[in-house]
Amino acid sequence: MAKASSWADWRSHGRGRSELGGALATLRLAFFGLALMTATINVLYLTGSFYMLEVYDRVIPGRSVPTLIGLTILAFGLYAFQGVLDLMRGRILVRIGTSVDAALSDRVYHTLVRMPLKTRTGADGLQPLRDLDGVRSFLSSAGPTAFFDLPWIPLYLAICFVFHVWIGVAALAGAALLILLTLLTEFRTRGPSLATVGLAQTRNALAESSRRNAEVLQAMGMSSRFAARWQRANNRYMASQQHTADVAGGLGAISKVMRMGLQSGVLGIGAFLVIQGQASAGIIIASSILTSRALAPVELAIAHWRSFVSARQSWRRLNDLLRAFPQAEKPMALPKPSASLVIEGVSGAPPGVQRLVVADVSFALRAGTGLGIVGPSASGKSSLARLLVGVWSPLRGKIRIDGAAIDQWDPEELGRHVGYLPQDVELFAGTVAENIARFDPEASAPAIIEAGKAAGIHDLILRLPEGYETEIGEGGAALSAGQRQRLALARALYGNPFLVVLDEPNSNLDNEGESALTQAILGVRARGGIAVVVAHRPSALAGVDQMLVMQEGRMSAFGPKEEVMSRITRPMAVPTATQAPPPDGQGTAFAAAGSFGGIPGLRVVQGQTA
Ligand SMILES: Nc1ncnc2c1ncn2[C@@H]1O[C@H](COP(=O)(O)OP(=O)(O)O)[C@@H](O)[C@H]1O
Ligand SMILES: [Mg+2]
Repeated sequence: MAKASSWADWRSHGRGRSELGGALATLRLAFFGLALMTATINVLYLTGSFYMLEVYDRVIPGRSVPTLIGLTILAFGLYAFQGVLDLMRGRILVRIGTSVDAALSDRVYHTLVRMPLKTRTGADGLQPLRDLDGVRSFLSSAGPTAFFDLPWIPLYLAICFVFHVWIGVAALAGAALLILLTLLTEFRTRGPSLATVGLAQTRNALAESSRRNAEVLQAMGMSSRFAARWQRANNRYMASQQHTADVAGGLGAISKVMRMGLQSGVLGIGAFLVIQGQASAGIIIASSILTSRALAPVELAIAHWRSFVSARQSWRRLNDLLRAFPQAEKPMALPKPSASLVIEGVSGAPPGVQRLVVADVSFALRAGTGLGIVGPSASGKSSLARLLVGVWSPLRGKIRIDGAAIDQWDPEELGRHVGYLPQDVELFAGTVAENIARFDPEASAPAIIEAGKAAGIHDLILRLPEGYETEIGEGGAALSAGQRQRLALARALYGNPFLVVLDEPNSNLDNEGESALTQAILGVRARGGIAVVVAHRPSALAGVDQMLVMQEGRMSAFGPKEEVMSRITRPMAVPTATQAPPPDGQGTAFAAAGSFGGIPGLRVVQGQTA
């Protein structure tokens, strides 16, 4: 039967009990209570039929007013009781939904944030939250009630048979037809509703990226083209939505008509039996009511089938997701690092990509050193930086801080000892102080000001309208690119982390900003930290003493800065910008600066790493 198989799927999809299943299992008591209430309610549903049976077959022939009054009071009492139970059942359902959400929302959020670091992100990264909402709202709706009611259908049918075989047969045939309809609904809506979710994701992702790139769309007159693209995606989504709704709605209408037909049919059969003298008038009406009562849960199930199917699909997606991102055990706390950063044969690739973009990189840095990483664009500098701070996990090799591989650290804990300035600075809506303090609610003003001073932006911040309390808007929209970069530098330096990794920290800086940057790097080294600076202009390397040259994802040189510099700056090999213009602007910067132009083979070879 449809109900049985879907519930089995629902409860234990996949191997063993899933995390979601576990969350539901803790609500076992609530479900048991629901089943008990449903049983009582279903027995109480018989009140109407039996009241009618008694009135027609006993009260009217016997002309007994006291019996009528007694029966009526009893019936009303039972109705009231049923009403109270119904109300409680609804409330329990809502609370089950809330509990499931409370048990899982934190976990789903954490998974959502880790997802882009581990896999190639799908069209719509927020789907897991929507899935959780879907599951919760289905659990809280009248949908599950239908499933609790379904097992009681046989009881009603049995009573119909007790009234008369023919009535029983008619009700049974009706039930069979309706269940067949339910199955049909299941098969015909499963595919379309899955497709609808996919189309909705595409559509939402398109809208989101248009919103993010609003300036580009406006400046280059691309708005209407993107509007048309969005419209097409939206049309496909709406068509799919409509198709699913049509299928479910059509079958719902058929089932309603059938139920009405059946009710009258049973009445007709009853009348025939009365004429034949085989049944009483009370039985006709009672059984007609009973039949429609028996089939009401089926109709309710059909009505909720669409939300059931989509909740079940959400459930599966969530289960798959949570299985792919098992809850990490909190590793033992390690002492504050203070000695070394060691990279042992590290290779890495972007999440969900098979091609290595960093291959076999090894070096060691002692506390107090500064490393400059140079190389043409797409040589894997940023990828190496991401590996160093633990954003990506190495596919081979180890990154050790004071001997402990970074995967032995609790990420939150490690984060305190790491400062990272990504190439594309990402700030969050909030105040300057909040952004510098990494949104730590317990941050102290002196620590924030210390970071501001270390990054050389204390004075600059004081000149903002509200100083450290200035709201910087979504993504730091209220700041210039250079201000954003320097604010992100302060954030990287906040709390004096042991390892500070700066990815092209000077790309938007003026001379003053660059000298502040050099001071910041020297400051990190002076207090016994390690600074790693990715650069494409030599001016950013004034503060470092070691140098690594990356090329096509591999290290082509490593050592003390002067040594590496002298090796890679052989004057006769320096191509001038006019002789051999490199294919990109960055290469031009190298050549013009004259420092790295002579790195043998230092050409841009896009996407040709091992
Ligand atoms: N998220 C990503 N997905 C796919 N490829 C990526 C991703 N990030 C980087 N790459 C690829 O890795 C290579 C190195 O990129 P990157 O480390 O950013 O170079 P660099 O910082 O030296 O300019 C490039 O070929 C780039 O296309
Ligand atoms: Mg880069």
